[in-house]
Amino acid sequence: VIDRNKLSRLFMEVYGDSSPPRLFRAPGRVNLIGEHTDYNDGFVLPMAINRETIVAARRRDDRRVRVRSVNINEAAEFDLDTKFNRANGRRLWLNYIEGVARILEERGARLTGADFLIQSDVPEGAGLSSSAALEVSTGLAMLSISNTEVDRVKLALAGQAAEHEYVGAKVGIMDQYIAALAEKQHALLIDCRSLEATTVPVDTSTVSFVICNSRVKHELASSAYNQRRAECERGVELLKNKLPEIRALRDVNASEFEKHEDCLPEIIRRRCRHVITENARTLAAANAFRQSDLQRAGQLMYESHASLDHDYEVSCPELNRLVEIARRVEGVLGARMTGGGFGGCTVNLVENESLDAFREAVTREYYEATDRAPAIYVSEACGGAEEV
Ligand code: GLA
Repeated sequence: VIDRNKLSRLFMEVYGDSSPPRLFRAPGRVNLIGEHTDYNDGFVLPMAINRETIVAARRRDDRRVRVRSVNINEAAEFDLDTKFNRANGRRLWLNYIEGVARILEERGARLTGADFLIQSDVPEGAGLSSSAALEVSTGLAMLSISNTEVDRVKLALAGQAAEHEYVGAKVGIMDQYIAALAEKQHALLIDCRSLEATTVPVDTSTVSFVICNSRVKHELASSAYNQRRAECERGVELLKNKLPEIRALRDVNASEFEKHEDCLPEIIRRRCRHVITENARTLAAANAFRQSDLQRAGQLMYESHASLDHDYEVSCPELNRLVEIARRVEGVLGARMTGGGFGGCTVNLVENESLDAFREAVTREYYEATDRAPAIYVSEACGGAEEV
């Protein structure tokens, strides 16, 4: 947990104590189901977790934005009146922040300069959306201190555009959306085409959502991600020969797919099959959670994992191992990799009575198999970005 008072005090030490900063936060997230569906106009079911990024912020009278990170003890700055310079050999973390600022301005906001001190306890590179938490918290801070009204969906879209244009990852909208709009005690079923969401209560009186970090970071994750996205787009192009009215894989149902899948090359066929079946599983899982049918929800999580492993090929041996270990523990209802894949975390639906046995099995067996100690987090569903 980040100590808010300490962060404020540190801010005044770093930037001078003329006035206390305002604090803004945005959470990390775990996706319960609906993986690699968002950029196919499909459905996702994430919830915010109890890990967050906090920005201490104070308005400046000029247009300079000075930024310091507590986590990596680095400082940097940019000027909103000077053009972004890609050749500056910039640090990646600054690009997220500067990217959001510039996108917000391109889209009509007029921002003031700012001093920022940023601290986060969302683990980085773990598939829990530390980058979206950074984009959304700094975006919210910039708009708020500039006295500009904040539209949450537009804030999420600006974060996504910053990743596309300033970082080079062609991500979907899920992570920024949940960081900006999450609700306590609920997951959100997000329709990534209409950008509307409905709340799905997640009741943790009998079960917990347990996140297991494989501690594997895959180097090639972002190029593989962009490649998957391109494979889905190719699939749509080819399927359009048979189904001219479709715009995205979202528009294809399972029986149409079975009828026409022969027109697709093997790899593209498997990618499309994952997305189409995953959309159906996500809608079914949202219903199962609503009806407190946790057995069914867990079953769908296992199926999602198998599909991500075999058809979409974004899992890895360590994630598969975590899921296998989970499957053998009594009282585990479901387990799957979560987030982009190639490393990062699994999410597990575990009966509260079995929590200790689960922790013990994962810690011991995963270490024996991989020589890595997993990190294990249990989280409630938390709220979205806000001023604190
Ligand atoms: C990353 C992206 C999301 C989404 C997931 C996979 O987290 O940022 O937009 O595509 O991968 O479901």
